[in-house]
Amino acid sequence: MAQSGKMVLPEEQVFYPPERFVRQANVKSREIYAKAQASPELFWALQAERLEWFRKWDKVLEWEPPFARWFVNAKLNVCYNCVDRHLKTWRRNKAALLFEGEPGDKQVYTYWDLYQEVGRLAAALQRLGVKKGDRVAIYLPMIPQLPIAMLACARIGAPHLVIFGGFSAEALRDRINDAGAKVLITADGGWRRGKVVPLLRNARLALDATPSVEKVVVVQRVGQEMELLSPTECWYHELLEEETPCPPEEMDSEDMLFILYTSGTTGRPKGVVHTSGGYLVGVTTTLHMTFDLKDEDVYWCTADCGWITGHSYLVYGPLANGATVLLYEGAPDWPRPDRFWQIIERYGVTIFYTAPTAIRAFMRWGEQWLDGRNLSSLRLLGTVGEPINPEAWLWFYQYVGQGRCPVVDTWWQTETGMHIIAALPGITPLKPGSATVPLPGLKVEVVDKEGNPVPPGQDGLLVLKEPWPAMMRTVYGDEERYVQEYWSRFPGKWYYFAGDGARKDNHHYLWILGRVDDVVNVAGHRMSTMELESALVEHPTVAEAAVIGKPHEIKGQAIVAFVTLKDEIFAAIKRGEWSWRETEDELKAHVTVKIGAIARPDNIYFTAELPKTRSGKIMRRLLRAIAEGKILGDISTLANPEVIAELKRRYGDQEV
Ligand code: WTA
Repeated sequence: MAQSGKMVLPEEQVFYPPERFVRQANVKSREIYAKAQASPELFWALQAERLEWFRKWDKVLEWEPPFARWFVNAKLNVCYNCVDRHLKTWRRNKAALLFEGEPGDKQVYTYWDLYQEVGRLAAALQRLGVKKGDRVAIYLPMIPQLPIAMLACARIGAPHLVIFGGFSAEALRDRINDAGAKVLITADGGWRRGKVVPLLRNARLALDATPSVEKVVVVQRVGQEMELLSPTECWYHELLEEETPCPPEEMDSEDMLFILYTSGTTGRPKGVVHTSGGYLVGVTTTLHMTFDLKDEDVYWCTADCGWITGHSYLVYGPLANGATVLLYEGAPDWPRPDRFWQIIERYGVTIFYTAPTAIRAFMRWGEQWLDGRNLSSLRLLGTVGEPINPEAWLWFYQYVGQGRCPVVDTWWQTETGMHIIAALPGITPLKPGSATVPLPGLKVEVVDKEGNPVPPGQDGLLVLKEPWPAMMRTVYGDEERYVQEYWSRFPGKWYYFAGDGARKDNHHYLWILGRVDDVVNVAGHRMSTMELESALVEHPTVAEAAVIGKPHEIKGQAIVAFVTLKDEIFAAIKRGEWSWRETEDELKAHVTVKIGAIARPDNIYFTAELPKTRSGKIMRRLLRAIAEGKILGDISTLANPEVIAELKRRYGDQEV
């Protein structure tokens, strides 16, 4: 990293909340931790008063491990809480969404405007036959219609599944089929680095084999596809013409709000299920506490709505708090690497939430892109998605926050729904690289393989020992997988296993060490190595594949694949009829088609054999060590030790 050399990293630097910040903070006193600990249920019941309920709960929590029900028998509507409720106050004319498209087009939605469009889309969906409980797939660029579609679904009680616009047709198809979605909402395209992402074209490919889909609603964004091709397709703007807002459905606290697909340890993505009451209480409360959100703030979260961060902290959390949310469609370096700083200056952004991978890219582009930009509106910075290295933290603090803004590193997951470990910026001293301590009311521990707490300074596994309101409720259509993957790691203990390694320091601060399972985290995007491997072996040339994550300066991890080819292909290459390079390019393109550009391997190494144990298990640990140039450790269980020398040689060759 170009700038990192300038910074001296003291062993452990501590940043205390600035006096100015403390005076105005939403949470000013540490008492909140003791109170929440004394009675977490009372704590969450008090937080639930932030929302408007059609009927209050009979009981805060019903816990039959590993199944939780929060705010039992309470009734609410999530969309009503995010939109309609604000119309009764001065927020009616407040900006809810400030949108900037990549080409520079701008649009403002007040809460009233948002109500109109959400309500009309909800009515239109009902007219198309979408009923409470029906699933709706959303495959849109980051334009206002994305949060609008999510809220419209919530309004009529139809769980949505948002599929990130960077996913391929095949990935879209799998998710639609797993959820059995009835309607797909998409767009003719979106803008990314000056080019059109052809969403409708991808969607049409996907819809070849999605029997559940009855209607496709198409937003006109780029004006590329001018014709609709079948009676199942209809234009969004035409659909809304005749409609007036429909009333919100009364939903049970435990009714499903959305499904969001994420990667686990198997080849098949899993549909994480979130419900209504507990989820909304969780995200509304945490945003208020961790980001110190106020009515005057201009809040910008750079995540895409296709990920959980976009759901919890771009749509539901901020709008339930009545915030002004900035929405930007495109890339951070388009047309130049100062686009984000321009946006912050233009809109007077006060809270800026982004990912370490983006921060490391800004560092590489250099702080000269910040020169002359007025970022004095900023008062708080946040990060999420992967461990932040102290150098990136300090760069963010110094150059973007100008030494004035607390940097709140938030650890959480698709499954947790809400922030779990994060500072309360008015009271928690910050240590660069640590997500600090669990939020009030949450019981987090670092344990050994048996589930016993490990002493400070030792590595262990991160667990949550008690249920929390925004926790996932199940894996869609696969309860067994929910129980197995998350709750069965420590026999005799109902601990939620997060899949991350962690360490506590002497001040009980938590340091996240990354995934301990077969999940790679590339630029903050989760992918399972199995999913990548199955995409590779589906290619007709491939016999076997093993995928690992290798440390990468900007992206955190890069995807490296070790591949053995089928004999006939190998022979064809030997005869000169086909080349390694062509095979490599084709395999990279193949993975892009199967999953999406985010899954494209950085490197593919061909080898005659993969290192395996005598029982036939691929030893990924050895591949990782080879890729990182590390000492291999114990190789006594290896069935084919000769392959190591070969791999090392090959890895070295191709590296040059
Ligand atoms: C990682 C994103 C360290 C972690 C909200 C987790 C982090 C996975 C942090 C979840 C952080 C997320 N520090 N690691 N602040 N935030 N992670 O489901 O490995 O896309 O298990 O949710 O990202 O990724 P997911």
